[in-house]
Amino acid sequence: MSVRFAVIGAGKVGKALACLLARAGYEFLGVSSRSMESARAARRFVGSGAAVADAARLTPKADLVFITTPDTAIASVCEGLAQGGALTPGAVVAHCSGALPSSVLESARAAGCHVGSLHPCQAVASAGEAVRVLPGSYCCIEGDLAAVEALEEVARVLHMQIVKVPTSAKPLYHAAACVASNYLVALQHAAVRLQQAAGIGREEALQCLLPLMKGTVSNIERAGLPDALTGPIERGDVATVESHVAAVAGSAPDLLPIYREMGRLTVEVSLAKGNIDRRAADALLQVLARGEGA
Ligand SMILES: NC(=O)c1ccc[n+]([C@@H]2O[C@H](COP(=O)([O-])OP(=O)(O)OC[C@H]3O[C@@H](n4cnc5c(N)ncnc54)[C@H](OP(=O)(O)O)[C@@H]3O)[C@@H](O)[C@H]2O)c1
Repeated sequence: MSVRFAVIGAGKVGKALACLLARAGYEFLGVSSRSMESARAARRFVGSGAAVADAARLTPKADLVFITTPDTAIASVCEGLAQGGALTPGAVVAHCSGALPSSVLESARAAGCHVGSLHPCQAVASAGEAVRVLPGSYCCIEGDLAAVEALEEVARVLHMQIVKVPTSAKPLYHAAACVASNYLVALQHAAVRLQQAAGIGREEALQCLLPLMKGTVSNIERAGLPDALTGPIERGDVATVESHVAAVAGSAPDLLPIYREMGRLTVEVSLAKGNIDRRAADALLQVLARGEGA
C-alpha cells in the first residue's frame, strides 16, 4: 500500500515535496495553508489531492505529515493538530527546517506519532525550480528511529542523498548551509559594490562578476579544496594585497573588515594548498591587518 501523506504550508518547499512525492507514487491526500489561495495553487501545482482550509480534514488519514510552514509556525501548527486529536498514533510528522530540531514536534510525539526532520540542503527560490534541483541534492535527516527510516525512504524515492547529523549539531550544519549559499549572495553584493566604487554600473558589474563566480564554483567542483584557489594571496603577492587594502579603505571602508577577514581565511587555504610558506603567510597577514583598530 502506498504511503498517504499531507502537507501543511503551501509554500515553495511544501509544493515541491508534494509534487515530487506524488510523482514517485506516494498518495497525496492534500494540502492546507494559512490561505486557501495558496492551498488551491499547491493543489494545481501537484495535480492531485485536496485543498482544504482545516488540516484536520487530512491528517487523521495520513501516514506522513509534512509541516512546511515557516520555522516560527511549525511548533504551534503541530500543537494545534495534536490537541485537536487530528494525528493518528504511529504516523510520522516531519518538518523541513535546517536549524530546528525534531523535538519542536514534541506535541505530536506525545500524541503517539514519530517525529523527524528532513532539511533539503538546497536554496529553494521557487517550487518549480526545486522540483528540478532537489533530486540529486543532499538532505539532512534526524529524528526518532521510525521517523528517520520513513524519511530515508522519502529521500531515496526523491533521489536525494542523505547526510546524517546529530540533532544537537543542526544549528552548526545549518550555519554551514547559510555560509555556502546566503553568504555567497552577500559576497557577490560586496563585489558588485566594489566594482561600482570603481565606476562600473551595477548591472554591468553583476554581469562581469557572474562568469567569474561560475568559473570558481566549477573549479571547486573539479579540483576541490584547497586546490581550486587562485589569486594574489595564493601567489603570495603582498604588494597586490597591499594595494587592495588601501583602495578598499579609501573607497568603501565599511567593506574593509570583510576584505580583511576573507583574506585571512584565504591565507589559511593558501597554506593548505602549499603555494605559500609560513613566512609569506605572515607577511600577507601583516598587510591585511594594516590600519586595523586605528
Ligand atoms: N526556501 C528554502 O530555500 C528552504 C530550504 C530548505 C528548507 N526550508 C524550510 O522549509 C520550510 C518552508 O520554507 P519555504 O521556503 O517553503 O517557505 P514559504 O515559501 O514562505 O512557505 C511557507 C508557507 O507556509 C504557509 N504558512 C505560514 N504560516 C502558516 C500557518 N500558521 N499554518 C499553515 N500554513 C502556514 C504560508 O502560507 P500562505 O501562502 O497560505 O500565506 C506559506 O505558503 C521552512 O521550515 C524552511 O526552513 C526552506
